[in-house]
Amino acid sequence: MKKKLLSGIQPSGTIHIGNYFGAIKQFVDLQESYDGMVFIADLHAITTIHDKDILSQNILNVALDYLACGLDPKKICLFKQSDIPEVAELARYFNCITTMPFLERATAYKDAHMKAKEINVGLFDYPVLMAADILIQDADVVPVGSDQKQHVEYARDIALKFNNIYGETFKLPEPLILKEVAIVPGIDGRKMSKSYGNTIPLFGTDEEIKKAVMKIVTDSKSPDEPKDPETCNIFALHKLFLKENDLKVLRDQYLKGGLGYKESKEMLLKEVLDFITPMREKRKEYANDLDKVRAILKEGAEKAKIQVTQKMNIIRNNVGVKI
Ligand code: TRP
Repeated sequence: MKKKLLSGIQPSGTIHIGNYFGAIKQFVDLQESYDGMVFIADLHAITTIHDKDILSQNILNVALDYLACGLDPKKICLFKQSDIPEVAELARYFNCITTMPFLERATAYKDAHMKAKEINVGLFDYPVLMAADILIQDADVVPVGSDQKQHVEYARDIALKFNNIYGETFKLPEPLILKEVAIVPGIDGRKMSKSYGNTIPLFGTDEEIKKAVMKIVTDSKSPDEPKDPETCNIFALHKLFLKENDLKVLRDQYLKGGLGYKESKEMLLKEVLDFITPMREKRKEYANDLDKVRAILKEGAEKAKIQVTQKMNIIRNNVGVKI
């Protein structure tokens, strides 16, 4: 029996190569060896998106993005969170055994609080809904970026507490963080993130991608000078695209001198464009057949429901609402 893997993706607009190498590629690679489920976390997105058109557009876009990146609906169950409203019911049961101080320790909440942002109850409660997503499916492993590790720990803690109060009901999920790809540097050298505005878009136009690559921050060494590949932001990105041998050749050119940063950027641009061209074409095909995408999500939800119906029966029984 394959282990069960589950992860959620935020429908939060344009994806970038940091998303791809940090998360999407993991799902695509892992779909071979796990019994996988990936859902579009629209009930999470509404903590911040309150525009109907933007939300529904984002949901479709993220489905297109992931299908284009190689998620295969035959291998992995892809669905939309809100098609399984039972997670909201489960979150309610969890809410009633979860304390405010416990949630106040969540880093996402603390960040928002520090920035003095208006915090709605949905955002405060985010880790609880996320625990429900994971635990309702009896997931064994949850692949997430390192920033989400704490949320998986919340899911474990909530499962333990529920099991203590109501009897053994949930298994404890493990986070799965692939180390080498966990942090992709952005064009300014900090972690690539939309909130830093330092991204290279995955499905941008050639022009947009070129603009981002040419803006990668470097020191001011002239083309002739030897350069340190390990501190170069361009080189860090080459590592994602080049094979071992080509990378070695490039490293030697850096150390020897003679290769300018501009030239290195032009090489990188070509690597990025070659890499994404097939994915772009696939995305276009799906975008021309949105009914097919809707059908994939519907079928995914029906599959996900089988486990959910059984599990909710047990949960309702253990809580005592089933009479
Ligand atoms: N919080 C995750 C993110 O922001 C998305 C998410 C929601 C998720 N529910 C989940 C991830 C359950 C893994 C499992 O990326």
